[in-house]
Amino acid sequence: MDRYAVIGNPIGHSKSPQIHRMFGEQTGQPIAYEALLAPLDDFAGTLREFLAEGLGVNVTVPFKEQAWALVDQHTPAAERAGAVNTIQRLDDGRLLGDNTDGKGLVRDIQHNAGLALAGLKVLLVGAGGAARGVIQPLLAAGPSQLCIVNRTVSKAEELAALFADQGPISAAGFQWIEEPVDLIINATSASLAGDLPDISPNLIRPGHTWCYDMMYASEATAFNRWAAEQGAARCLDGLGMLVEQAAEAFLLWRGVRPDTAPVLKALR
Ligand code: ATR
Repeated sequence: MDRYAVIGNPIGHSKSPQIHRMFGEQTGQPIAYEALLAPLDDFAGTLREFLAEGLGVNVTVPFKEQAWALVDQHTPAAERAGAVNTIQRLDDGRLLGDNTDGKGLVRDIQHNAGLALAGLKVLLVGAGGAARGVIQPLLAAGPSQLCIVNRTVSKAEELAALFADQGPISAAGFQWIEEPVDLIINATSASLAGDLPDISPNLIRPGHTWCYDMMYASEATAFNRWAAEQGAARCLDGLGMLVEQAAEAFLLWRGVRPDTAPVLKALR
């Protein structure tokens, strides 16, 4: 059976094996998919060992930037993202790196939730690797403005400069913006610690503004609880993004895009 894996540290909580098993059954392409814990100081060794036989891997925290540096070539989406979450071993043995996170996010917002991004004013909170990975696909969806806000403003400014040629992007500090926006996407790691980015509640126009936390948990995240308290029209978490980025990886590897709806339903 063709072998795939997700590599991370920690990795025990990963839903990817379950997701890809369902994709395989659904498409009639059963694949073997395992979760591999790489030592923090030897992602490269774990990757090399697995890909001696395996055909592809997903990469998760904290190895996406290392994966970017290790592959032989990048897809356009991965090139700018500076991070790789999907690797395919090509027929000649060379490694192709893709980043499907942003495509997954945009697909979840537009296709699953039904919010067209064209013409919207979007706020992206955070300027770390998670934010950088989704900027290009977000801009490609045609928002009227994509504003990166971050606790450390200089990092938001660096990202805005890096993607300036891709669309209407700007940078700001947390309390600089007070006007309501159409969509707020939380790409900070604050939710992991149950923390909230210190942004203004005025960004949310009750009954209008949508909020999306790229994190997910069995309970609503701190950010989504806060957003609901401010009257956000919809509060979405990152489970849909997880399933959609996995579907994009499956498409790259197997040439067929699985139907994500039943998989998302099973996971919920
Ligand atoms: P990731 O790869 O998950 O993006 P990262 O590159 O370490 O991780 O970036 C973490 C992001 O979350 C940064 O934007 C960080 O803000 P700073 O650049 O100012 O450090 C943000 N972040 C983490 N904890 C936060 C908190 N408690 N409040 C606000 N922002 C936070």
